[in-house]
Amino acid sequence: MICSAPGKVFLFGEHAVVYGRHAVVSAINLRTFVKIERHPDFVIESPIGTTGLDAITHPYVTEAIHLIQEIHPIKGCRFHITSEIPVSSGLGSSAAVTVAVIGATNEEFNIGLGRDEIYELARKVEKRVQGIASGTDPFVSTFGGAYQIPEREKIDIKGLNIIIIYTGQESNTKKMVEKVAELRNRFPDIIEPIFDAIDQISLRGIQAIKTGDLDEINFLFGMNQGLLKSIGVSSESIDAIITDVERHGKRGKLTGAGGGGSVITLGSKEDYKMLKSLYPDTFLVSLENEGLKIHG
Ligand code: PMV
Repeated sequence: MICSAPGKVFLFGEHAVVYGRHAVVSAINLRTFVKIERHPDFVIESPIGTTGLDAITHPYVTEAIHLIQEIHPIKGCRFHITSEIPVSSGLGSSAAVTVAVIGATNEEFNIGLGRDEIYELARKVEKRVQGIASGTDPFVSTFGGAYQIPEREKIDIKGLNIIIIYTGQESNTKKMVEKVAELRNRFPDIIEPIFDAIDQISLRGIQAIKTGDLDEINFLFGMNQGLLKSIGVSSESIDAIITDVERHGKRGKLTGAGGGGSVITLGSKEDYKMLKSLYPDTFLVSLENEGLKIHG
């Protein structure tokens, strides 16, 4: 049995979304695939390595199996994981692998979970591993599509060509979310207004997406990035890419937790080729409407 689930990009609003502000997020056409086979023990094979249940190397898969075992007794199975999404890239690879593992196990053992229950389990896994989390990644990975968060109202972003540039530097979501939480505890009077400003950027971004105003979206990317930098989640590699993007007359922003990970910008196929010549791990992506997919 093979299942897959998509990664995602935050167009606007990461981090602020953890504190109830608006965000814009979309599933993308890069997926993580999980093949499950019956086996006496648990074996997890992924690009990170081969382990048994191992909360250090494979925290999301291991936690997912623990939670599934609470509802259905499973003694063992082998998971073979491959991914088009770079690991720890801010593109939701953790949620994608979690959703695909739960989906594949559900199918293989006929557990009978519906999509909502798969999402709830994936959300619990994220909470257990990450501590603080908005639940956005597992939602988008399970259901696909683009959304205004927290309302989960669908948005049509079909017209947007999103270019993703991976910095090659890993983004540690737990670490970055904790860093922002500490900053908020220390300077609530400064950080809350920054979250409010990001909230307004997300709302204006949604209007710009609806009217197809690419200049405005680009401009808002730049402002959102400035605020993300001010809360300490940018990095040297992100800043260097953004400088290159701006040199070519565009704006960009980090996407996801930051501290590494990926940068997004809007652009044509030509822009994509130009950026790929500078940064090999560059992807031109489109909106993915399908969430968890059962390949059989
Ligand atoms: O980097 P990712 O793909 O794990 O996204 C994290 C997004 C945050 O807003 C920073 C955290 C969250 O749970 O929404």
